[in-house]
Amino acid sequence: MTASAYLSDLVAPDLRVEYRLVEELIPYARNARTHGEAQIAQIAGSIREFGFNNPVLVDGERGIIAGHGRVLAARRLGMTSVPVIELTHLSPVQKKAFVLADNRLALEAGWDREVLALEVADLAEMGFDVTLAGFAEKELKDLCQSESSPERVEVLDHEDELPDPSPATVSRSGDLWLLGQHRLLCGDSTLAEAVTKVMSGQRAALLFTSPPYGNKRDYTTGGIADWDGLMRGVFANAPMGQGGQVLVNLGLIHEKNEWHPYWEGWLDWMRGQGWRRFAWYVWDQGFGLPGDWNGRFGPSHEFVFHFNRQSRRPHKIMPCIHAGEDRDFKSGLRGKDGVVQKWNGKTFQTQESKIPDSVARIFRHQARGIETGHPAVFPVALPEHFMLAFTDPEDVCFEPFSGSGTSLVAAQKTGRICQAIELAPEYCDIAIRRFAGLFPQESITLEDGRTFDEVSAERAGDASDSGSQNNA
Ligand SMILES: C[S@@+](CC[C@H](N)C(=O)[O-])C[C@H]1O[C@@H](n2cnc3c(N)ncnc32)[C@H](O)[C@@H]1O
Repeated sequence: MTASAYLSDLVAPDLRVEYRLVEELIPYARNARTHGEAQIAQIAGSIREFGFNNPVLVDGERGIIAGHGRVLAARRLGMTSVPVIELTHLSPVQKKAFVLADNRLALEAGWDREVLALEVADLAEMGFDVTLAGFAEKELKDLCQSESSPERVEVLDHEDELPDPSPATVSRSGDLWLLGQHRLLCGDSTLAEAVTKVMSGQRAALLFTSPPYGNKRDYTTGGIADWDGLMRGVFANAPMGQGGQVLVNLGLIHEKNEWHPYWEGWLDWMRGQGWRRFAWYVWDQGFGLPGDWNGRFGPSHEFVFHFNRQSRRPHKIMPCIHAGEDRDFKSGLRGKDGVVQKWNGKTFQTQESKIPDSVARIFRHQARGIETGHPAVFPVALPEHFMLAFTDPEDVCFEPFSGSGTSLVAAQKTGRICQAIELAPEYCDIAIRRFAGLFPQESITLEDGRTFDEVSAERAGDASDSGSQNNA
């Protein structure tokens, strides 16, 4: 027999999908595989979501060879018929063995946990209930906590994680980097001289930033011992211009099984400095992972505190779905009498764009793909949203907690100017490399004109002369 003739013999003859009444299918009396109530419920959920896509394998006499769980689930769902494939070519012995083999062989398959974590995160992001794919909540949580999971930073934002220390950090404290029109100072934003240096006489129209959330996370420079002190230091020096808007992103942290209002003292202090508690927005981060987070719903939102001394009208930056269409509908505003007013013009054209509402709906996962190595990156779309709403092109935005340089990227994209400060030299390097990768046309130099590569080469020489690898 030739090899191809032999292989074609392996294809079962004339496999056809047929439909049989569920009540006519006969379970194998000695089926060794068991199906608990919970699993039947899972299979039923999957059939409800995806349909009955995997035909039951039956012998020539309606006896089930494979698919006992699916048939039980179909019964539970009240299905009257299901697809089947008749395996008439199996001998009685083969049939008996295949009932076991079909179940047993599947158990030998493994999972590429990295790919699995990506798929699960994608599905969660698309709003799909991943438990319908058969994963238990605990399993999903473990998966996303796994060291190998590239989603870890984004999915589990509230967990501490240190970035990989760069073997040779180029930036040093005091460096002022010029990235195109923007500046990044490696320094401490609680220090007035650092702010003066990075601002170079300019005043900011916007401060949008994400400080460390309380004392939760360790950065390469260590944890935050005195959060109030840090915040007071930074905001006492905020170089805001007349009418400048200050927006600060903070997330919940929990202590002793309660969420902790760590921002309270700082909010009062801001008020004492003349910064009105003007608004409080929510950042909706998109679909979180399903599951039980110690008895809580999974986290998928944070806050943005908006302060100012005088308000400014935000720009219309959100596209209107019905842009350009003639519409004639109620204004939607309720009068003093409680009655919703009718629009009193005849018709009007829906505008192209509108002012955002108080919920910024920006997927956390939009930061994915940027290999920043920073533990708390926010998506570029977040600073972009506030820059577009509260500044004009060429306006200066101050970023006192620059991290991986997300605000620098957003400013470049929106035609604003960002003056940023970051304490950790490692994160300054990350921001510079990230900016260089995204905007290769922009020059990047130290204030004395040396390029990042030149400085890197010189400092690598310094380090090897002194026998040290890390010059931070
Ligand atoms: C929440 S992270 C900001 C992440 C940033 N939004 C991003 O997308 O990468 C806070 C950052 O503030 C930095 N930081 C902490 N204290 C600082 C200080 N006194 N001056 C400047 N930066 C500081 C930390 O090193 C950390 O990178």
